[in-house]
Amino acid sequence: MVNLKVNLAGMILDNPVIPSSGTFGYGLDHARYYDLNILGSIAIKGTTLNPRFGNPTPRVAECASGAVCSIGLQNPGVDEVVKTLLPELKKYYRKKVIANACGFSAEEFAEVAARFDASDSVGIIEVNVSCPNVESGLSFGSYPNTVYEVTKKVRKRVKKAVFVKLSPMVADIKEIACAAEEAGADGVTLINAAPAMRIDLKTKKPVLANKKGGLSGKALFPVALRCVYDVYGAVKIPVVGVGGISSAEDVIEMMYAGATAVGVGAENLVEPFACKKIIEELPAAAERCGLVNLADATGAAHR
Ligand SMILES: Cc1cc2nc3c(=O)[nH]c(=O)nc-3n(C[C@H](O)[C@H](O)[C@H](O)COP(=O)(O)O)c2cc1C
Repeated sequence: MVNLKVNLAGMILDNPVIPSSGTFGYGLDHARYYDLNILGSIAIKGTTLNPRFGNPTPRVAECASGAVCSIGLQNPGVDEVVKTLLPELKKYYRKKVIANACGFSAEEFAEVAARFDASDSVGIIEVNVSCPNVESGLSFGSYPNTVYEVTKKVRKRVKKAVFVKLSPMVADIKEIACAAEEAGADGVTLINAAPAMRIDLKTKKPVLANKKGGLSGKALFPVALRCVYDVYGAVKIPVVGVGGISSAEDVIEMMYAGATAVGVGAENLVEPFACKKIIEELPAAAERCGLVNLADATGAAHR
């Protein structure tokens, strides 16, 4: 029997599979489909200090092997999440979640993170400096000095583990990850959706109301794999690998590249049972790869 447990910065997960932020809401919809307690953890929707309505529609444009989305961080604000949604989720999910904290200034990131830090439902705080769909969303994550500044400010206000979520749209993702590590991050999550767009052939106009969005889904997998591979070799902190994962084999490949745990994103939108199916298929897939402890897969491609 394969041991699926992994240790993510001190949080022991029954398996490495985590629905990625923004593709699983606050878990409540999926609680109707299956027992959420089978999941390694849940990364909840990106949350800001104040409620946000999000971007105008259309917000989703399909493409080969993925989708270009521009949601614009629609969320009810951190206080509503902490006081109402997380206690509601607790009825269905007994483990700790990963809270995705967003902001429009280093101070806002730190304030949102501090309010999540006070919630006993939260195990890890994921700082989203890489949202491609809000004005200035990518600017914090594009430079080592701004990543350092945001991480440092969050670190000062937070006792729980801090992960920083990075964008693939940078010249050197290793440099950005190192800046997060230097500022005290306990881990990095990579990657967020990659800036992208679609144009309607008939109207000759961008399909998305926001014109541009972020590419996610299967098309992103090799890009994410490369980022995880590079960052694993550059930092000592754990990496959560996200991007295009849709099968148990993808999970193992991402772990070989260096991921300790993985996020499953857009696949949840295509197949609501995606995470459940992947978790059920993991033991047999790991066995086929000769793994007794799945955790041993992490970084195997570097050895
Ligand atoms: C509809 C949608 C909403 C998303 N919202 C967030 C978010 O709020 N915070 C965040 O950090 N990432 C967000 N993401 C990015 C995903 O968590 C993930 O990093 C990215 O989509 C790549 O993984 P995938 O190819 O498995 O979807 C969103 C992605 C999608 C498709």
